[in-house]
Order: sequence, then C-alpha cells, then structure tokens
Amino acid sequence: MTSEMITFNNGVEIPALGLGVFLTPPDQTAAAVSTAIQAGYRLIDTAAAYLNERAVGEGIRNSGVSRDELFVTTKLWPGQYGHDGARHGFEGSLTRLGLDYIDLFLLHWPVPSDFAATVEAYQTMEELRAQGRIRAIGVCNFLPHHLHELQERTGLVPALNQIELNPFYTQPDTVAANAERGIVTQAWAPIGGTYARNPNAVTHGVGTPLEHPVITGLAAKYGKTAAQVVIRWHLDHGFSAIPKSVHAERIVENFDVFDFSLTAAEIAQIDALDTGVRAGGDPETFSADSYPTDVDAQ
Ligand SMILES: NC(=O)c1ccc[n+]([C@@H]2O[C@H](COP(=O)([O-])OP(=O)(O)OC[C@H]3O[C@@H](n4cnc5c(N)ncnc54)[C@H](OP(=O)(O)O)[C@@H]3O)[C@@H](O)[C@H]2O)c1
Repeated sequence: MTSEMITFNNGVEIPALGLGVFLTPPDQTAAAVSTAIQAGYRLIDTAAAYLNERAVGEGIRNSGVSRDELFVTTKLWPGQYGHDGARHGFEGSLTRLGLDYIDLFLLHWPVPSDFAATVEAYQTMEELRAQGRIRAIGVCNFLPHHLHELQERTGLVPALNQIELNPFYTQPDTVAANAERGIVTQAWAPIGGTYARNPNAVTHGVGTPLEHPVITGLAAKYGKTAAQVVIRWHLDHGFSAIPKSVHAERIVENFDVFDFSLTAAEIAQIDALDTGVRAGGDPETFSADSYPTDVDAQ
C-alpha cells in the first residue's frame, strides 16, 4: 500500500497520509516510526518541541527504507523565532534527526504578540530552502489574517498550513483561505486527539468524533473502523492528515484507507458535525510561554 500524493505550489510532492508523533514518548518513538514505514507510511511529522527528533531519526535508520523515499517534517518552536533563533533551531533539528536535509520545515505557531519575529523566522527558513537544505517551507495554525499578513510582509506563500482539523472542528474559513492561495491544508488531531486531552471540549455529547453515530454508521457500512472513515474523509477532501499512535495495530489500521472512498453526501454528513469550537490551542494568543519548552535541553 502506498499513500496518495499531494503536490505543493513549488512542485514538491508530499504523501497525503503520514504518522504524527506529538506526545509519543521518546522511548516508543523509534519503534512507532519504523513500524509505520514498514507498513507503507512515507511521511513522518515531528517537531523540535516534541522532544523526540533523535528517536525519529533512529526509527528512520532502522526502517530499512532509504532516506530519499521518505518525507520528514519538523517544526521551529516560537522560542526560537527571529533570524538567529531560526538558524539555530534548524541546525538543532537537523542534528537531532541525523539528516542532511528536511523535506518540510514549519513555523509551529504564529506569535501575534511578536509577529515581526514570526516573519523573520519565516524569511530565514526561505533562505535555508533556497540553499537546498529544506525542500519546502510552511506554517502551522495560521488563520486567514496571519496568511495575509505574512504574504504582505514577505511576498511568500507557504506550501502548507497544518491546522487543527477533524469532523468536530472543520475550520472552513481557513481551509478556504489556504485553497485560494494554493496552500495545502494538513490536518493535525485528524481523528480528534484533542478531545481526550481537553475535558472542556465541545463534542456533541460523545467522547471524540470516533464515537459519533454518523461516523460509526459509515464504518459499519464500509466494513472499516471509525478512525479509517475519518481519515478517508480527510483524504476525500484533498487534505493531508497525520494521525498519531504508539500502537502497531493502530498504525497499520490508520494506513489501510486506500481501498474505499466516501460519497459526496457522506462527506457532507461528516462536514455537518462541525461544532465551530476548537479543542486545541488558540492561534490568536499563542506564544512560546503557552507551552514552555526548552528545545535546546534535549
Ligand atoms: N502543528 C501543531 O500545532 C500540532 C498540534 C498537535 C498535533 N500536531 C501533529 O498532529 C499529529 C496528530 O495529532 P494528535 O496526536 O493531536 O491527534 P490524533 O492523531 O487525532 O489522535 C491521536 C490519539 O488517537 C489515538 N488513536 C490513534 N489511532 C487510533 C485508532 N485507530 N483508533 C482509536 N484511537 C486511535 C491515539 O492513541 P494511541 O497513541 O494510544 O494509539 C491518540 O490518543 C501529532 O502527533 C503531531 O504530529 C501538530
């Protein structure tokens, strides 16, 4: 099984489906990554702030698949924004991963209280891309006005915007703003990982999207699991998605989605589950202090 591919606005291709490793403990990360690659995954999504880049590199080296067949994403933490911080952050990620280039390097969050440093970091990433050290650059958690402001100040259009996106939080305005600019939308918390982490999240009275009767009903119809139906919904929308699991059987399950697709009516039924309320962090107020993390200490 191989993933469907999506082409960026700079011509680089990214596998639509990958493995995320946020909250994957470092001592379980190498096994999760090599299990995923052996199951057919070619996209791995980590970040300096996940404190597991070394183990991601180890999993890649253990996988038996050559580096040039893989697509590795990592992210610059807001504590390292600005020109010098971004250079330092990039070199740190590269060293910890044990790689000599990054496929996709992302700003982890906008920092509205110091957007000048956010912009400077992005310009530095563009310099690194032009030098051939990164194949594509992008952002995470950018709202339409952040995309507009970045483009106004730099003339640059990100390849990808990774945002919180699942059936309970579909962000239609940001998805549309991405599409207008030719930016690929990539879903984090694609199967609703945020709902288990946030007891105040709005969930239609069920635990997560995987428990909603619309999803479980479609799972029964297709002989698939709820997670597979939700992942298929992302792919049928043209989104990239990066579900996380530490369990080998779920890693394999989440990739077994290339033998069915949803009808337009079923996609619309899932779209209608949007609550309009995010369960994760707020891009309007985010800063490095939101989740204090010493990325250099790892
Ligand atoms: N850019 C950002 O700001 C940002 C923020 C958050 C996340 N991310 C990225 O997005 C990735 C995915 O997001 P996420 O980890 O928050 O949430 P997620 O992938 O939606 O959900 C992960 C949760 O679902 C469970 N799970 C996985 N497969 C399952 C299955 N088949 N059936 C039932 N449960 C299943 C996992 O448990 P087990 O591990 O126990 O299986 C874990 O608790 C992250 O790992 C990270 O790479 C980016």
